[in-house]
Amino acid sequence: MDVLSVCNHKGGTGKTTTAIHVAAALGLSGWSVLVIDLDPQGFLTRTMDVEEPRSDASVAKLFEPSVSLDTIPVRHLSGFDLLPSSSTLTKRMRDLNKPTDVLWVREVLQNSSLEYDLVLFDTAAAVTVYSLNALVASEHVLIPVLPEYQAIVGAEQTFQTIELVENKLNPRLQSRNFLLTQVDARKRIHRTYQEYLRTKYGDSVLDSVIRTSTSLAESREGGTTVFDHDSSARGAQDYANATDELTQRLRSVQKSSQEASPVPDDSIEAEDVPLPDEVLDS
Ligand SMILES: Nc1ncnc2c1ncn2[C@@H]1O[C@H](COP(=O)(O)OP(=O)(O)OP(=O)(O)O)[C@@H](O)[C@H]1O
Ligand SMILES: [Mg+2]
Repeated sequence: MDVLSVCNHKGGTGKTTTAIHVAAALGLSGWSVLVIDLDPQGFLTRTMDVEEPRSDASVAKLFEPSVSLDTIPVRHLSGFDLLPSSSTLTKRMRDLNKPTDVLWVREVLQNSSLEYDLVLFDTAAAVTVYSLNALVASEHVLIPVLPEYQAIVGAEQTFQTIELVENKLNPRLQSRNFLLTQVDARKRIHRTYQEYLRTKYGDSVLDSVIRTSTSLAESREGGTTVFDHDSSARGAQDYANATDELTQRLRSVQKSSQEASPVPDDSIEAEDVPLPDEVLDS
């Protein structure tokens, strides 16, 4: 089972749109995918027209002791399953302040017998205990980024957070890819920032890009994916291509990690785990 976080500390860079459409594109290719909405605002859950469930049928359940993911009901949507978000995450956040509170989700996944090909986290535009839980549980990160100044700064900060998490909390977190979104080739500034990102981060930037597409916004209004709304739209083509490229990269990481010697599970001691603020400050 692969585990992927969609993450960028800057808001509005296409994280939720990307999480939905990568999951749906993989679903169309026969993958079984579980999307976990770890954004307390639950935009992915709302976008898919899923009502906020009771807290014990939501992602909030992952932060309770002795929970099995196998017993939390998921929603079966077109192409993927969804564990919906809950507004109780916001209230719960102030209690999740111990060093070990970044480990909840990884532990639940490790103890699960569910057989998805991919678990995919959508995260909020901030470094919180929830986004850290996603990164600590993941092997891969996808960073959607608009080719504009603030989004690029957010993406670079995200890249640094991922390196810290890899070094201090999760040595398995080795694969990270930027995905350029909402690209408008007519804008000179977009070309400039694309070039900047590709020059600085090379192969970590997917060749495929997501162009601006009104069908993506329209499908969102209808609580569906662009593949169901208009499969010939350029948003559908772009996400299909980007997902193909991403899949190849996930497979090559899988292959090289099978060849490498495994990292022991006990490589991280709970008392070594920094609190979220400490991660940011280091
Ligand atoms: N390729 C695109 N073309 C046109 N509009 C897009 C595209 N991608 C995303 N959008 C629109 O941009 C807005 C922000 O996208 P989205 O919610 O996916 O970003 P986000 O990073 O998840 O935001 P947040 O940080 O608030 O969670 C939405 O209205 C979405 O419909
Ligand atoms: Mg979002």
